[in-house]
Amino acid sequence: MAKLYVNPGNPKSKINKEIYGNFSEHLGRCIYEGLFVGTDSPIPNTNGMRNDVVNALKEMKLPVLRWPGGCFADEYHWMDGIGPKKKRKKIVNTHWGGVVEDNSFGTHEFMELCRQIGCETYINGNVGSGTVREMSEWVEYMTFSGVSPMADLRKENGHEEAYTVNYFGVGNENWGCGGNMRPEYYADEYRRYQTYVRNYYKDKKIYKIACGPNADDYSWTDTVMKIAGKYMDGLSLHYYTVPGDDWDHKGSATQFDEAEYYLTLRKAYFIKELLHRHGAIMDRYDPKKKVGLIVDEWGTWFDVEPGTNPGFLYQQNTMRDAMVAAISLNLFNKHSDRVKMANIAQLVNVLQAVILTEGEKMLLTPTYHVFKMFCDHQDATLLDSSLATETIGMGKNLIPNLTESVSRASDGSITITLANLSLEHAYPVETVFAEGTPDHVTGTILTGAMDAHNTFDAPETVKAADFTDTKLADGTISFDIPPCSVISLKVTLK
Ligand code: AHR
Repeated sequence: MAKLYVNPGNPKSKINKEIYGNFSEHLGRCIYEGLFVGTDSPIPNTNGMRNDVVNALKEMKLPVLRWPGGCFADEYHWMDGIGPKKKRKKIVNTHWGGVVEDNSFGTHEFMELCRQIGCETYINGNVGSGTVREMSEWVEYMTFSGVSPMADLRKENGHEEAYTVNYFGVGNENWGCGGNMRPEYYADEYRRYQTYVRNYYKDKKIYKIACGPNADDYSWTDTVMKIAGKYMDGLSLHYYTVPGDDWDHKGSATQFDEAEYYLTLRKAYFIKELLHRHGAIMDRYDPKKKVGLIVDEWGTWFDVEPGTNPGFLYQQNTMRDAMVAAISLNLFNKHSDRVKMANIAQLVNVLQAVILTEGEKMLLTPTYHVFKMFCDHQDATLLDSSLATETIGMGKNLIPNLTESVSRASDGSITITLANLSLEHAYPVETVFAEGTPDHVTGTILTGAMDAHNTFDAPETVKAADFTDTKLADGTISFDIPPCSVISLKVTLK
């Protein structure tokens, strides 16, 4: 029997809704086709945005979207993407497939997409190949409501009101595709660039995010925090779960055995160590935890689907991805004293996408269902909880059998999210509350074979279903969690 102890009397940090954010880059079919089809498309759209995708994202309660990259951000010149579409520059997307980027999706289109979804905006600026002036003028263009050259240009381009920019990233992966900088150099550049990310708002503040480390590059975190920590609101962290040992053999998204399943989940769990160790370094410079750790790229990265453009990073998504999502989101919830936002890579048709499209068809991936099942954690308060786990796995790839997190929403309801990572065993779980007695419980389950996935011919092979096999007795909630499954429970206490 796995005992899950919940202590409603010990509330912890707020789980920012932004932990459930996503990332969208000008990469493959994420923006073009996946989100934006243009107003002339036969695919039903509103101002060029796919209605089916926007509606699904609203249902998932997508809180924030990062754009335009990724590596693309440090080559993006925002002026190429404003004004009459026919006059916009056609450029080559050097990072992603060498395809033509016609800039038909630019600042106004991104803002329109976020307006339709009802989400916050996270813009990533160009440090690698852009100037301070260019970044400063972009911020002025988007956010200044008075009279100025950039505000006037925005108005000429059809948008009278200033837009809301909630988050602004000063460069992306500047240790790599964003300029191959050393941390000392980047930290100084960050200090300079961010000075001119002016705050024109009277009632709100742009949250400035510095480029953080690649995975376990702890010295990057140490140096950037030391030199520039006091000038930032957030520091990013990028970590991808890649089963293979080299980038040419990452592993297939759908063809894998049990050993590779456990290897993948063991690598997904590594993010726990990253959160602890980067968090400990940040604590040294920022003991009051004013600077958020922003995990703005995370998720699985497999070989592309056979026959697709290698530069488009299109991969399928199975129950294994659902497990990676459940592990990661539970960990982000549990570290929400430091983790203030996370953005899975990427929203549609790229890497661990929540949505895949093919022409007019759209499907929701297992990862989508996890995000939706976890959405009641958004802006709730993390509760103290602990779960007795066993170690499972194969060979060196050992992981806990179960992962969980628990929160309380402002209406008092409690959300428990739990995943059973074992491929063989179901486990009986008994939930015990230190205070209060459960009065009512509803549940949702996502389960299937480790490689189960949705296709355009069978789009509902993996989907969330009601979970009613719970027993309320003696102040506890008992149930069996099947192998390879994710459960979310909503509980009211009396
Ligand atoms: O998400 C794909 C790429 O991965 C991003 O462009 C880059 O930031 C990272 O290396």
